Amino acid sequence: MKAGFVQYHPEFGNVQANLDRVEELLAGKEADLFVLPELFSTGYRFKNMEEAHHYAELVPGGLTTGFLCSTAKKMNAYFIAGLVETENERIYNSSVIVGPEGFLGRYRKIHLFDTEKACFHTGREAPPVFDLRGAKVGVMICFDWRFPETARSLALKGAEIIAHPSNLVLPHCPQAMITRCLENRVFAITADRVGDENRVPNETLHFIGQSQVVDPDGNVLVRASETGEEVCVVEIELEKAREKILNPKNDIFKDRRPDLYF
Ligand code: ACM
Repeated sequence: MKAGFVQYHPEFGNVQANLDRVEELLAGKEADLFVLPELFSTGYRFKNMEEAHHYAELVPGGLTTGFLCSTAKKMNAYFIAGLVETENERIYNSSVIVGPEGFLGRYRKIHLFDTEKACFHTGREAPPVFDLRGAKVGVMICFDWRFPETARSLALKGAEIIAHPSNLVLPHCPQAMITRCLENRVFAITADRVGDENRVPNETLHFIGQSQVVDPDGNVLVRASETGEEVCVVEIELEKAREKILNPKNDIFKDRRPDLYF
C-alpha cells in the first residue's frame, strides 16, 4: 500500500482557497491513502465556540467532505482529514474518512488541547478503525498523541496504520510518535501544517511542520521540513505491523498484564 501526507499552510477562514491549494498540491500525486492536517480547510485558532460554529460543517453534506469525496473518487484514493463539524448545535474537532465509494465515517477528537476546550465539544466515541483497501487504519487527532492509551487502543482493535491529522505546536510529538509506533508495532502517518496564526493578541501560534511516516520498528520513513508545503508518499509494508513478536519469547500484545494495570 502507498500512503502519505499533505503538509501545507492553510489561510485562516478561507475554506475555498484552502481546498483549491490542497487540490493544487495533490496534482499528479498517487497513493492509496492521503492524510491531511487537523482542521485543514479552516485553519486552527478559533476565538471561541461561536466562531467555530460559524465555520462548522455538516459531516457528510458540507463543502469540505464533498470536496474530499470528489477528490477521492477522481484520484481513486482514501483521505483522512480534519475539519470543524457541527451536529445538533454541538461543535467538534473532527476527522473524516472518505474513499472512492464516498463518505465512510468520522472521528471526533477526545483529548482537546488548551484553548480548544473553549471552541469544541469533546468527542464521546472511541477512536475508530477502518478497513481501507485491505489495511486496517485507525484514526486519532493531534493532541491524542499525548495519551498513549489512544494509539494502544487503536492497535488492540487491529489498526496497522494510525492516521494522525495534526496542527502541532509542541515540539515533542514527532519523537513521541516514534515511541507510539514501537510500543504498538504500527505505522503512523502524522500530517501537520506549517506557518503561524495571529488570531488573538499576544498569542502567536507557530506550527512545527515535520509531518512524518514512521514504521513499526520506529524508523522515520519520511519527515517533512519545518516550514515547507510538501506531499510525501511512501510504500507501507503492512506485514511488518501484523507481526507483534519481538523474539521467540516475547509477543508485545500477549505479554501485556492488564490484570495488573489499566
Ligand atoms: C493540537 O492538538 N492541535 C495541539
